[in-house]
Parts: sequence; C-alpha cells; structure tokens
Amino acid sequence: MDAEHVLVTGGAGFIGANLVRWLVRHHQAQITVVDKLTYAGNRRYISELVDEGTVELVVADIADREAMEGLFSRSDFDGVFHLAAESHVDRSIAGPEAFLKSNVEGTFCLLECARQAWDKGKPGRFLHVSTDEVYGSIEPPGAFSEDSPYDPSSPYAASKAASDHFATAYHRTFGMDVVITNCSNNFGPYQYPEKLIPVVIASLRDGRSVPVYGDGQNVRDWLYVKDHCRALIEVFDRGRSGQCYNIGGRNEWTNLDLVERICDLVDERLGRPMGRSRQQIEFVADRPGHDRRYAIDATRIHRELGWKAGTDFETALDRTVGWYLDNLERLWGV
Ligand SMILES: NC(=O)c1ccc[n+]([C@@H]2O[C@H](COP(=O)([O-])OP(=O)(O)OC[C@H]3O[C@@H](n4cnc5c(N)ncnc54)[C@H](O)[C@@H]3O)[C@@H](O)[C@H]2O)c1
Repeated sequence: MDAEHVLVTGGAGFIGANLVRWLVRHHQAQITVVDKLTYAGNRRYISELVDEGTVELVVADIADREAMEGLFSRSDFDGVFHLAAESHVDRSIAGPEAFLKSNVEGTFCLLECARQAWDKGKPGRFLHVSTDEVYGSIEPPGAFSEDSPYDPSSPYAASKAASDHFATAYHRTFGMDVVITNCSNNFGPYQYPEKLIPVVIASLRDGRSVPVYGDGQNVRDWLYVKDHCRALIEVFDRGRSGQCYNIGGRNEWTNLDLVERICDLVDERLGRPMGRSRQQIEFVADRPGHDRRYAIDATRIHRELGWKAGTDFETALDRTVGWYLDNLERLWGV
C-alpha cells in the first residue's frame, strides 16, 4: 500500500479492528482510528496497538462536524477506510434514527471534510465500505452484480444505500477519488455477540436455546473477515476510481445448516456427545422484512484485481468457534 497516513473509521469495531490489525502486520502506513466506541466498538480490540503507539485512537462521532473538521485539519490523511456504522439489522428495526445519524449523516460529514481537506492539499482516496443488503433479496441461482438495482429492505440497508449514493455523488460531482465495496456477511474474531455466529456459540456454551428465525432457510453468503480485509486493501490500492466492487465468499449457507454446523463444532470442542447442541435450536418468529437470500457475484474484483476469498471455510469456522469460546468472557463478560 502506497498511502502514508490512513484514517480507519470504526476501527474499534469488528471488521475495522481486523483491518487495523492486518494493516499493522502487513503495511507501513501510519494509522489513525476514529471511533465513537458505541456498544459495538471496544477499545480492547486494538488496545495493545494504541498503548504501544502504533495506532492513534480518536474517540469521536463521525457525524460531529467540528470534531471531524478538526481531525482532518490537523492530520495529513492520504486515505480513508470508512467502516464506522450502526450495523445491526434488528436494532435498525427497533430504533432506526441512529442509523440515519451515523450511517447517512456520518458518511456525509466525512465525505465533506475529506473533500475540503483534499481540495486544499494533496488529494487522497476514500474507500466506503458497504453491504450486499443494499440490493435486497435474490432468488437462486442469481447473484448480485455491481449493476444490480438498489432495493433495500431494512432501515439498516436503506441507510447504507443512501450513504453509497452520497459516496458515488461525491465522485461524480466533485471528482473525489472514491471507491465503494459491497460485501456479504463477515465472520471471524471481534464481532459483538449480538450477531448470529457469536450469539449461537455463547448460547450453546451456556446451555441456552439458540433462536433461529422463521424456518431457518434464509441464505447468506459467508466471508471470512481476513479475506475481506485483503480485498479492501486491493480495492484501496488498485480499484478504479468511482467503481463499486462486490466482495463475497461464494459460500452460501442456509441459517439452519450453518447453525447446525456450529453446534457440531461446539460439541467437538467441548467434548459433548455429537448432536447434543443441536437440541438447543429453537425456531422463533421471523424478522420483519427478512430478506430470503443474498448472493454476491464477485467476478469484477477477481477479474480486475485478482482477488478471491482464499480461506477454507470449515477451517475458518472451526477457528472462529474456538476463538469465541476462549474470548467471550474476557472481552464482553458473557
Ligand atoms: N459485519 C458484516 O457482516 C458486514 C457486512 C457488510 C457490510 N458491513 C459494513 O462494514 C462496516 C463495519 O461493520 P462491522 O460489522 O465491523 O460493524 P460493528 O458494529 O462491529 O462496528 C462498527 C464500529 O463503528 C463505530 N461507530 C458506530 N457509529 C459511529 C459513529 N457515529 N461515529 C464513530 N464511530 C461509530 C462503532 O463504535 C464500532 O466500533 C459497516 O459499515 C457495515 O455496514 C458489515
């Protein structure tokens, strides 16, 4: 990576913390993280890097114009990896306003501050990280390409769609160097235990029931977070300005099949009789507006940048199960 000083927004969240760790390990750039440390952000995900001075952590809201202007004016960022967002679909149904504030107003504020700073000095690149949920649901065997129409179902997806449009507009209108990525469901370490995989592992460990929405036949394409981080850096380095890149694992699972697989891995790791954890599965009323299937066509990033998800899914899932069993208590007290 050529950039000398990058800003990672949401760098104390799940994907952000993995990205910061990846950047520290594989690249030389100076790294500043801006994060509001909401319930989903956790200083401890990156605390040793902050304590040793490798990473600067600024605790602030990306929608706070004064704070962001101050940050951009005192730092010479030549790149932004924008990941900060409210990210949980269920919370967007219970309280959509925070999603409008952080995801739409926050993205707007960052774009505006970056534009002003880069108009004055050396321009940089803005990578906006988004989701496949902007495209809505798709029937098999179809898969979303970058040309699929936007059709968001949840307030979360709508807020991400709106922020994507702002990012594109800043490229088209102001000539800002913007690239956008839309990725599928990530899994791996440091994900707040309200999302499917860590919730399932914690519930199984404690002997609680494991809720599965509806009939469990909703399909998601699972991407290992480290493969995603690699993709983000490829797009940041070599993606075409103004382009969107879909990032997916070509790894579709129904929710039920995935939960059953995790049950078996937990049985193995905890030395339980095989099949015991599956008895904890309980079907619950479906989520309103629950998209049936997401599937990503990642041909563009493969063809243009040579990226594809390389990690073996079974190995990564097993490693992830082990990581949560070891860290749920330490990081989240659950
Ligand atoms: N996790 C996934 O599977 C997935 C899939 C597709 C896209 N994405 C996108 O990737 C990005 C990162 O997702 P994640 O899963 O790591 O989310 P996360 O909820 O784990 O982390 C989000 C981080 O952003 C911070 N944040 C939230 N609002 C903020 C604000 N107003 N100001 C500053 N910081 C704020 C939080 O404190 C947290 O550290 C998001 O933009 C999300 O939409 C995630």
